[in-house]
Amino acid sequence: MPSYSDYLKLDQLLDLQQPVSRAPEHDEMLFIVIHQVYELWFKEILHELEYLQELLSKNDGARARHTLKRVLTILKVLVAQLDILETMTPLEFLSFRDRLESGSGFQSVQFRELEFALGWKDPQALERHPEGSEARRRLERRLATGTLWDAFLHHLAANGVTVPRTDLERDVTSPVAPSPELRPALIEVYRCRPDLAELCERLVDLDEGLMEWRYRHVKMVQRTIGTRRGTGGSAGAEYLMTTLNQPLFPDLWAIRTEL
Ligand code: HEM
Repeated sequence: MPSYSDYLKLDQLLDLQQPVSRAPEHDEMLFIVIHQVYELWFKEILHELEYLQELLSKNDGARARHTLKRVLTILKVLVAQLDILETMTPLEFLSFRDRLESGSGFQSVQFRELEFALGWKDPQALERHPEGSEARRRLERRLATGTLWDAFLHHLAANGVTVPRTDLERDVTSPVAPSPELRPALIEVYRCRPDLAELCERLVDLDEGLMEWRYRHVKMVQRTIGTRRGTGGSAGAEYLMTTLNQPLFPDLWAIRTEL
C-alpha cells in the first residue's frame, strides 16, 4: 500500500508554491495557494459535470440530482473562499502585483472549460491560446461537446416532456440562448413532474451560484485594485461588471413570472 504522502504525491504538491516576489512578500503565498486550490476545485467540478451529463443521458435522475448537489456544495466553497482573499489589503496585494505581469485568472483554461460545459460558449476564448497547444485542444473539445443544458433537455425528452426539436437539435457550439417555445414544457414540468422540477431548481441553484461567485469576485477586485486595469489586459472591474447577471439557463428564470 502506498503511504499517505506517496498516494497524494505530497512532495510534488507542496513544492508547487513558488513565490516570484524577491523579498519574498508574505502575502504572495496566500495568493498562490488560493489560486491553486481554485484550479483543483475547477478540476473536480469538471469531473463531476462530465459524470452528471453521463447520468442524465442514462436517465439516472436520482444519481444526477445527487451529483448536482455535490457540484453545488463545491460552488459554495468557491464563493466562501473569497473571504480568505479579502483578508489581504490593497497594499499587501500591490507589494507583489507587478510580478504577476500578464498573469490573471482571465487565462484560466479550466474556468473557460467550465463556462463552456455550462453553456457559455465564447469561441473568442480559444483565440487566447496558440493553435495546437494543449489549452487550445481542451477548449476545442469542450466547444464541440454538448453542454449540461443539452443533456438536461434530452433527459426531459426521454422522460416524456415535449421539448421542441429546435432545442434538442441546437448547434452545441453556440451559447445557450433563450427559447420561448420551450417555456410551456418547462412550466408543465414545474406543475406536474416534481422529480424533474427538482432538477430544474438545482440548475437554478447552479446558475445563481456562479452569478454569486462573479459578483463576489468583482467586489473583491474593486476593493483590492479599485478601477485599475487587470493584469490579464482587460479594463478590470469595469469588464467584470459586464459578466454579471447573465444567466446560464435563461428559460428557467423566464418562466418564474408565469408559474
Ligand atoms: C487579489 C485577487 C484578485 C484580483 C485583484 C483579481 C483581478 C481580476 C481582474 C482585474 C480580472 C479581469 C481580467 C484581467 O485580468 O484583465 C479577473 C478575471 C478573472 N479572475 Fe480574478 N482576481 C483575483 C483573484 C482571483 C481568484 C482567486 C480567482 C480564482 C481562480 C480568480 C479568477 C478569475 C477568473 C476566472 C477571471 C475571468 C472572469 C471572466 O472573464 O468572466 N481571480 N480577475
